[in-house]
Order: sequence, then C-alpha cells, then structure tokens
Amino acid sequence: MQNPAKVQNCAALLAQALERAPGGPSLLGALQSRGIALILGTGLGGVADAVCEPVKVPFGELPGFPLSTVQSHAGRFVAGYLHGLPVLIQQGRNHLYEGYSPAMVVFGVRVMGLLGLRTLIVTNAAGALNPLFEAGEVMLMSDQINWTGASPLTGPDDGVFGPRFPDMSAAYDRELRAMARRAALRAGLRLQEGVYLGVTGPQLETPAETRAFRLLGADAVGMSTVLEVIAARQMGMRVLGFSCLSNKNLPDCMAEAPLDAILSVAAEAGKTLARLLETLAPDLLREAPAR
Ligand code: HPA
Repeated sequence: MQNPAKVQNCAALLAQALERAPGGPSLLGALQSRGIALILGTGLGGVADAVCEPVKVPFGELPGFPLSTVQSHAGRFVAGYLHGLPVLIQQGRNHLYEGYSPAMVVFGVRVMGLLGLRTLIVTNAAGALNPLFEAGEVMLMSDQINWTGASPLTGPDDGVFGPRFPDMSAAYDRELRAMARRAALRAGLRLQEGVYLGVTGPQLETPAETRAFRLLGADAVGMSTVLEVIAARQMGMRVLGFSCLSNKNLPDCMAEAPLDAILSVAAEAGKTLARLLETLAPDLLREAPAR
C-alpha cells in the first residue's frame, strides 16, 4: 500500500530541486507540458549521458525514497533534454528481489506521475525466450505477464492515484508502439516485438520454468517493470517499453547467464536503444499534447 503523503513530499522536493537549478524552472514547465518519464534498467544507465544540461537529484536527497541496493543502478533522477525532448530519467530502480514491497518498487513512477509527467518509457534487461530473438537485440514490449504474484495496488484504497481496478487491455500504448516501429525502420535498427513476463527473481530460470513461460506466451523474461507499468496505467500515464535482450534462454539447450555477461550484452543492446530514442525523440515531441 502506497503512502500518498510520502510520495507527495518527494514530488514536491524534486520539483523544488529542479526549480533551483539553472534553467530549472523552464525545464520543470517543459517536463509537465510535454516531458517524458524514462526508467533506465540494468546496464542501460549510459542513456542518461546524452542528456543536455542535466540536473541530477540523488534518491538520497528525497526522504522516504527507497535507495537501490543494486550496484549496476545509479540511484538518481536526471532531468534535462534528450535530443530536444524534455526528460525526467529515473536512473536505477527498486526490485522485489531486494526485499522491497510492491509499493516501494513503484515509488519512482508515483513521484514522476504526481509531478505531472503523462508518458512513461520503461526499459529493462531481459532474457529472450522467443527462439527467433537474439541476445543483443532490443524488443518493443507489446504486452506483459505479471508473474510476480504481487501488485502495487493491493491494500486499502484511498483513490489518490487512480481507479481501484485500472484497465490493462492496452497497457503499452498502441500509437507509441507504432511510432517506435516507424522510428526503428527509419534508423535502420532491428526491433523485435513481444510479450515481457516479469518474475520476482533474483534466481534465473530453470529450463522447466523457461519452457513454461514460453508456453504461457512470453517472448522475454525479466525481474522488473511489470509493477511499474501497473502503477503508471492506474495514474493514466501512456506507456512505451523496451527490453534489451541480454541472453537467450532455450529450455532444451540452456546456457548459463552470468551477471557480467548480462550487463555487457545489455549495454550493447542499450546502444541500439539509445539510437532508437534519438530517432524517436522528435516524433514524441511533436506528438506531445499541449496541456
Ligand atoms: N531471466 C530473468 N531476468 C533477466 C534475465 C533472465 O534470463 N536476463 C536479464 N534479466
């Protein structure tokens, strides 16, 4: 169960931190009118390096914000312009496997939603389950299976963040997905598309689990994202998602997936993702509703 007062406090502090920075007041306005919230997953933090005039706010400066315990995650917000597009980047995230509650896992999404951002791009590292996909490729998320057994929406309902039973019939926005496909074509980038299945982890999957998840209809598996997308949809945010495929899991010839290899291949795929975001940025800017 989310504590709305804690989220509101962090959103107010983040707004103040942005306003204090040079260029911050106009950046905050741009974020609220046409900005994109972006969560960077494992090995993908480098995307934030392309942000112009970045304003960095470590999670530690926001009392109540859960701190990431994962070394490959930086743990801060980075705000600025990514190829002209106003962005608020959550660099690093919290996972169920760290022992965080579902509400803590989605804390960053709640903060960005309350700050007024209306579109969320989620990214993650994931294992490919579809035998036609390769490690190092990027997958556009068409849908998700929440296999964690948890939801950020369980508990008493105070209605602060949105409806009790949010619709998930089109969790990943159709128009934004079409825009991403067009951008990939324009940039000459291979973009796979499929269903992401979210597990709790932190152990990787057995061959039997891999076979079962494939039978369930999943194309990729990872340990994040699904709860964040539920929270974002409850708040009415439009969602676009990309998985950087860091390894390939085939049940009949399972290979080991050591963390170093996952991180380095995810970072390779992250370069493709960065180029895709660069191509997509002007389209997103054009598309953003004037509010
Ligand atoms: N399984 C679960 N999570 C992952 C994987 C995987 O194979 N690769 C990267 N994150």
